[in-house]
Amino acid sequence: MGDNPQSGQRKKLFIKTYGCQMNVYDSARMADVLAPLGYTAAETPDGADMVILNTCHIREKAAEKVFSDLGRLRVLKTEKVAGGSDMLIAVAGCVAQAEGAQIMARAPFVDIVLGPQTYHRLPEMVAKVARGAHGRGVLDTEFPLEPKFDHLPAPKADGPTAFVSIQEGCDKFCTFCVVPYTRGAEYSRPPSDLLREARTLVEGGASEITLLGQNVNAYHGEADGKTWTLARLVRALAEIDGLKRIRYTTSHPRDMDDDLIKAHGDVPQLMPFLHLPVQSGSDKILAAMNRGHTRDDYRRIIEKLRTVRGDLALSSDFITGYPGETDADFDDTLELVQEIGFAQSFSFKYSPRPGTPAANLKTQVPEDVKTERLHVLQQVLDAQLRQFNAACIGKTFDVLMTNPGRNPGQIVGRSPYLQAVHVTADPKHIGSIVPLKIVSLEAYSLGAVWADESERAVSA
Ligand code: 5AD
Ligand code: SF4
Repeated sequence: MGDNPQSGQRKKLFIKTYGCQMNVYDSARMADVLAPLGYTAAETPDGADMVILNTCHIREKAAEKVFSDLGRLRVLKTEKVAGGSDMLIAVAGCVAQAEGAQIMARAPFVDIVLGPQTYHRLPEMVAKVARGAHGRGVLDTEFPLEPKFDHLPAPKADGPTAFVSIQEGCDKFCTFCVVPYTRGAEYSRPPSDLLREARTLVEGGASEITLLGQNVNAYHGEADGKTWTLARLVRALAEIDGLKRIRYTTSHPRDMDDDLIKAHGDVPQLMPFLHLPVQSGSDKILAAMNRGHTRDDYRRIIEKLRTVRGDLALSSDFITGYPGETDADFDDTLELVQEIGFAQSFSFKYSPRPGTPAANLKTQVPEDVKTERLHVLQQVLDAQLRQFNAACIGKTFDVLMTNPGRNPGQIVGRSPYLQAVHVTADPKHIGSIVPLKIVSLEAYSLGAVWADESERAVSA
C-alpha cells in the first residue's frame, strides 16, 4: 500500500501482559501489527510513545491491578505531554472487553480500548487517535465476523520455543468463568493455516511448539469439508521435519477423546506433561460449575492417559470456596489431589465475576473460609510439586536449551515437564536438545550436569 509516512520514525512501545499464555501470544501479535508503524519494543513504560496494558479479567485481583497501573501511567503521560510529546495509552484484552465503557469513564486519559478480537485493527485505531479522535478515545470491543487471524502477519520464530494459537473462545460456560463472554464463541483456525504457520516457525528455528486455546482440545478445524480434531492436527504437525516437541494448553476433561489420549501414546513429539484442569473433586460442585464431568470421569481419563504414557505428569487448576462448597466437598478435592498426584498446579479462591451465573448465587462462601481452604490445598499441592521435582534428581532428561542463565557460564532450558533446568555450558548449545542429568533442586529451577560427563565421572 505504498509508503507509510510514519514508518520511518522509531517509536517505543511498551506492552504489559497480564494473565494467560493466550495474552502473551496476543501481545506479541500486537507488537507485530504495530511494527510497520515504526514501533519497537521498550523494556519499561518510562519514555515510551505507546503503552498497551493487555489485561486479564479472570479473577477480581487481575482486573483491579489494571486500574492501579493506569494511575501510574497517567503520571508518565502527563510528564511526556508537559515535555511537548505524548504517550498513547491502550487497554486491550479481557478487562477491556468486559469493562470498556467503564475504563473510558474512569480513566479518560486512555486513548484506545480494544477487545481481544480486534487487535488486528490497532494501526487503524492509532491513526484515528492521531487524526484527532484523541481526548474522546477509541473504543473497539466488537466481535468482528471476519476472524482477526486472517488480518495478522504470520508470527516469526523468536527462539527455540513458539506458540501457535489454534482455537479461541469457549462454549462451555462454566458458571464461574468470564471467558465465554470476553473471548466469545469457540472458533478454530483452519488446519492448513496452522500447518503453514508451524512450518514457518520451525524453519525459523523453533523446535517446540505449544498449541494454544482457551479450550484447546475442543479444536475442530475445517479442511476440505472435513473436521479435524486436535489429535489429527497433532499427528499432522508431528510430520514436520525439525519439530521436536508439541504441547497444547488449556484442555478440558470433557474433550479428552480416545484418539487424543491415544496420540499421547504414539506421537513421541507430544510431551509427557498435560495441564488438565479439574477445578474441584466434588461431584456436587462439578455439577454446579457446569463442568459436564464427574470426579470418576476425570480419574478414568488419567488412568487411560497413564496406561498409554506411563511417564505422563499432570497439572491442574483448582478453585476453593465455589458457592455452596462445604467442608465435605473440599475434602473430596483433597482426596482427589492425593489420589492423582500433580506435578504442578494453580489454585485460586473463588472470585465472583460480574455477569457470570455463580456470582449471583446466595450461597457464597465467606472469604476467610475460601482463604483457609486455599491455604490447606496449596500446602498439599506444594508438597506434591516438591516431591515430583525431588524425584527427578538422578534422572536424565532431554532438555531444550532456551536462554543464557542468570549466573555467568550457565544456560537454561526446559525439561519435558516444563521445569527450568540450568547447566554450566557454552551458549552455542542454546536451541539444541541435550541430555542432562538432574543433580540439584533450587528455588525455581533444577541444576544439571551433562549426562555423559556424569556417566564418565561415575565410571572413573
Ligand atoms: N474465580 C476463581 N478462579 C477462576 N478461574 C476462572 N474463573 C475463576 C473465578 N471466577 C480459574 C480456573 C481456570 C483458571 C484459568 O482460572 O481454575 O481454570
Ligand atoms: Fe472458562 Fe475453561 Fe470453563 Fe471455558 S472451559 S468456561 S475457559 S473454565
